[in-house]
Amino acid sequence: MATTPALKSPSRWLTALLATTSCLLPGARATVYKLGTKAEIKESAATLAYDLMLYYKGNQSGEIPGILPGPPTEHKGDYYWWEGGAMMGTYVDYWFLTGDESYNKVVTEGMIHQVGPDEDYMPPNHTASLGNDDQGFWGMSAMLAAENKFPNPPEGQPQWLALAQAVFHTQAAPERHDNTCNGGLRWQVPPMNAGYNYKNTIANGCFFDLGARLAAYTFNQSYADWADKTFQWLWDVGYIDHKDWRVYDGGHVEHNCTDINKAQFSYNAALLLHGSAFMYNYTNGSEIWKTRVDKLWEGMHRDFFEDDIAYEIPCEGRKGACTADMLSFKGYVHRWLSVVTKVAPHTRDKILPVLRTSTEAAVKQCTGGDTGRRCGFYWREGVYVDPAVDKTSGAGEQMNVLAAVSSLLIDDAPPPANNITGLSKPNYNAGSRSRGPSEPLAPITNGDRAGAAILTILILGSAVGSWAWMSFGD
Ligand SMILES: *[C@@H]1O[C@H](CO)[C@@H](O)[C@H](O)[C@H]1NC(C)=O
Ligand SMILES: *[C@@H]1O[C@H](CO)[C@@H](O)[C@H](O)[C@H]1NC(C)=O
Ligand SMILES: *[C@@H]1O[C@H](CO)[C@@H](O)[C@H](O)[C@H]1NC(C)=O
Ligand SMILES: *[C@@H]1O[C@H](CO)[C@@H](O)[C@H](O)[C@H]1NC(C)=O
Ligand SMILES: *[C@@H]1O[C@H](CO)[C@@H](O)[C@H](O)[C@H]1NC(C)=O
Ligand SMILES: *[C@@H]1O[C@H](CO)[C@@H](O)[C@H](O)[C@H]1NC(C)=O
Ligand SMILES: *[C@@H]1O[C@H](CO)[C@@H](O)[C@H](O)[C@H]1NC(C)=O
Repeated sequence: MATTPALKSPSRWLTALLATTSCLLPGARATVYKLGTKAEIKESAATLAYDLMLYYKGNQSGEIPGILPGPPTEHKGDYYWWEGGAMMGTYVDYWFLTGDESYNKVVTEGMIHQVGPDEDYMPPNHTASLGNDDQGFWGMSAMLAAENKFPNPPEGQPQWLALAQAVFHTQAAPERHDNTCNGGLRWQVPPMNAGYNYKNTIANGCFFDLGARLAAYTFNQSYADWADKTFQWLWDVGYIDHKDWRVYDGGHVEHNCTDINKAQFSYNAALLLHGSAFMYNYTNGSEIWKTRVDKLWEGMHRDFFEDDIAYEIPCEGRKGACTADMLSFKGYVHRWLSVVTKVAPHTRDKILPVLRTSTEAAVKQCTGGDTGRRCGFYWREGVYVDPAVDKTSGAGEQMNVLAAVSSLLIDDAPPPANNITGLSKPNYNAGSRSRGPSEPLAPITNGDRAGAAILTILILGSAVGSWAWMSFGD
C-alpha cells in the first residue's frame, strides 16, 4: 500500500470533499445496499440480480436466449456475444452463493441455446467473428456450472462438463496452434479476421484456465499438461513481466510477439491467477504454482487495488474511455479472486479483506437512475456516474456490483466440485466433430467482425483502420 495515498491520488481529496458536502445537501442519495450481515448481503444481491435481468431480453418472445442486446456492429445493442456468456456465469455464481433459484431456468435456457450444432459454443451466428476468448467465456461458464453443481440440463441435452471439454478440445486441436511466436493461441479463430495475427493473453488465459479446471475436476493429467505449457508460453513470450508480474495484453505474429502491447486489463491478470490457483490445488500445493499464485496476487493488489478498490487501469482515468467490454471486468475479477481463496486457502486472509473494501465502495456509488439504486462504474470515486458517459446502457456496471456483492458469501460456499463430488458427466469426445476453421465459414457480413476482445483492437493503433473498414464496409 502507498504510504501517502492522498498524495498519490489527489482526486480522493475532492471525492472526500464532495461526499461530505453531498451529505449536507437536501436530497443527496445514499445507497440502498447494505452489507452488514449475510441476510443484508443476500438481499442486496437479490436486488442487483433483479435489476441486471432487466437488461436481458433473451426470454421474451422473438428474442434470442443467452445474449444481451447486440452486437453493436449491427446496431442491435451495446453487447457482444461473449458478454451474454459471462452474464450467465455471473448468475450461476449468484445461485451458488445465495441459493436464490429465480433465474436458473432463464440461465439454463440461454446457455443451452447458444451451444451451436456441434455443442461447442461455436454457433453459426457467431463463428464468423469468433475469438478464442469469446468461445472461452462461454466454456468457462459451463465449467462453472459443473463446479458449482448447477442443476444439470435435461437428459439428451448437452451437459455442463462436456460443454467445457468441447470448448477446450476444439482449442487444443492442431488447427488452432502454429509455431509463430513459438506457440500459443491466436486471438481470432477464422484466418481472415482482423486480429488473427494477434496472439493475446485473454485467448490463452481462457484456454489455460479451462485446462487447469478440467484437470482439477477430472484428475486427467492431459489437461494439466496443456495448462502448464500455456502458462509457460505466456511467461516465455513476456506477456507476464518477469520482474513485477504485470500482465500485458498481447503481440503480433509478424513481430514474433515481441511488439508487446503493455496495456494491463484486470481480467487478464485475474484469469491467470484463477487458473494458477487451480493448478496449485491440483498439484497438491506445488512450490512453482504457489509462487505464481502469490506473485500474481501481489501484482494485482498493487496495480488494480491501489486503495483496496477495484480500478480498471487502461481506461478508468478518462471518463468515457472504457468500452462496454471493459466495463464488465471488475465483476470477473471479484468472482475469480473469491474462488482463489477456496482452492488456494493460504490466500484467503490476504484477498478477502480487499474484496470487502472494494465491494463496499462499489455499492456506495449505486445511487443512480429512477430507482436511486442503479450502479455506475467509478467505484473509487464513490459517486454515481451515469453509464451513458461511457456510451453504454449499463449491464456491465450492474453485473460488476452483483458479482462483487454475491462473492462476499464465498466463505460459506463449498469448494469447486470434482468428478467425485460433482454431478456433471464428462465426454472425452466432446468437440471432436466440430468444424475446423479451415472449412468454409459463413460469408462475412456486416457486423461479424468484432468479437469479445474488441477492446484489444481498439487500442492497437494500426488495426483500427482495417477493423473499421471491415466492420462497417458492407
Ligand atoms: C424472463 O425472466 C424473468 C426473470 O426470471 C421473469 O421475471 C420474466 O417474467 C421472464 N419473462 C418471460 C416472458 O418469460
Ligand atoms: C441466430 O440468429 C437467428 C436470427 O436472428 C435467431 O433466430 C437464432 O435464435 C440465433 N441462434 C442463436 C444460437 O443465437
Ligand atoms: C475421476 O477421478 C479419478 C481420480 O480420483 C480418476 O481416476 C478417474 O479417471 C476420473 N474419472 C473420470 C471419468 O474422469
Ligand atoms: C484424458 O484426456 C484426454 C484428452 O482429452 C483423453 O484423450 C483421455 O482419454 C483422457 N483419459 C482418461 C483416463 O479419461
Ligand atoms: C521468437 O521468440 C521466441 C521467444 O518467445 C524465441 O525463442 C525465438 O527464437 C524467436 N524467434 C525468432 C525467429 O526470432
Ligand atoms: C495429489 O495427492 C493425491 C493423494 O496423495 C495423489 O493421489 C495425487 O496423485 C497427487 N496429485 C499430483 C498432481 O501430484
Ligand atoms: C485444495 O482445495 C481444497 C478445497 O478448498 C482445500 O481443502 C485444500 O486445502 C486445497 N489444497 C491446497 C494444497 O491448498
